Amino acid sequence: MRTIIKRVSEESLLCAAEILRAGGLVAFPTETVYGLGANFLLERACAGIFAAKGRPADNPLILHISSADELPRVAEKIPRAAFDLAEAFWPGPLTLVLKKSSLVPDIVTAGRDTVAVRLPANAAARNLIDLTGAPVAAPSANRSTTVSPTCAEHVREDLDGLIDMILDGGACLAGLESTIIDLSGDSFEILRPGVITPEDLARVLGAKPRLHAPGKDEPPRAPGMKYKHYAPKAEIVVFFGQAHKTAERVNGIIAASADPSRIGVLATNETAEMYDGRALVLSVGSRGDVLEICRNLFRVLRLFDERGAGVIYAEALPERAAGRAAMNRLMKAASEVVRL
Ligand code: TXA
Ligand code: MG
Repeated sequence: MRTIIKRVSEESLLCAAEILRAGGLVAFPTETVYGLGANFLLERACAGIFAAKGRPADNPLILHISSADELPRVAEKIPRAAFDLAEAFWPGPLTLVLKKSSLVPDIVTAGRDTVAVRLPANAAARNLIDLTGAPVAAPSANRSTTVSPTCAEHVREDLDGLIDMILDGGACLAGLESTIIDLSGDSFEILRPGVITPEDLARVLGAKPRLHAPGKDEPPRAPGMKYKHYAPKAEIVVFFGQAHKTAERVNGIIAASADPSRIGVLATNETAEMYDGRALVLSVGSRGDVLEICRNLFRVLRLFDERGAGVIYAEALPERAAGRAAMNRLMKAASEVVRL
């Protein structure tokens, strides 16, 4: 299959919507990461998403809608809190898990009785859904287990030749996948942290929702969170401790290495200069700007792969506000943790 790549324009959006209506697959920009979309009513097209990504069949898709009015079509027994959260955060990077309506095919929800729904802030994404005339089922537009794509080039690296079209809308503003909150049970729980924080949600809900932490033998309720995920090809080792101690330890490893250029160091603007420059030292942004760190993390992880890093030594990132979501992804990708 030849994959068409087009900048977002009136014409390319019409073409993309035509492809989706006909049962094809289109990658499109959102404010979080790029999505790989199919018309949610066409089961063969949704099956194509699983095939193109190499996605396990038990991992459900998020439905993208272009207006909150569509919520009652795809969900049932919607609690008041869902409308309140939609009012406060949509369009935006928040996904609501609700009881599904009978209209939603089982392939979208991987056989569950709940459906994940979100209304993206990106105007091209909303136009595309509008022009398609139906909600668009879309996971992130990467091969399963690789890092989510934050620009069209990342999508091309993973899915060229496997999908019909990539709509290029530039770099994603948030850079991390949406916050997922499960409202389908008695207590509301965050299944995946994102740039919308528990404190943001508490302002609307009145109380801070719990972060879902599955027991030892229990799978996470967002099935996607159980996979070693967000991982570049290189192994990641995360260091917790004071900046100078981390730099000292990592510099020792670099000095002892026969090929320092294959060692990656994930640093921040404040610390990058502290590392031995023979290694591949990349900054994810300023420790004072957690949103910048969220925006850059996946791009920088892909850059390490591209530049041939065999291992990545990463500083623990500031765990405040949205920074906790960046650390969640970094820890999911990590194979080892060192506490200094
Ligand atoms: O920001 C985002 O959410 C991006 C953009 C494209 O919208 N999408 C995204 O999709 O990250 P994906 O498929 O990579 O991650 C969706 C997560 C998975 O962990 C999946 O298991 C979970 O949402 N999920 C989907 N439906 C669910 C449901 N009914 N119940 C629980 N978890 C669900
Ligand atoms: Mg994903």
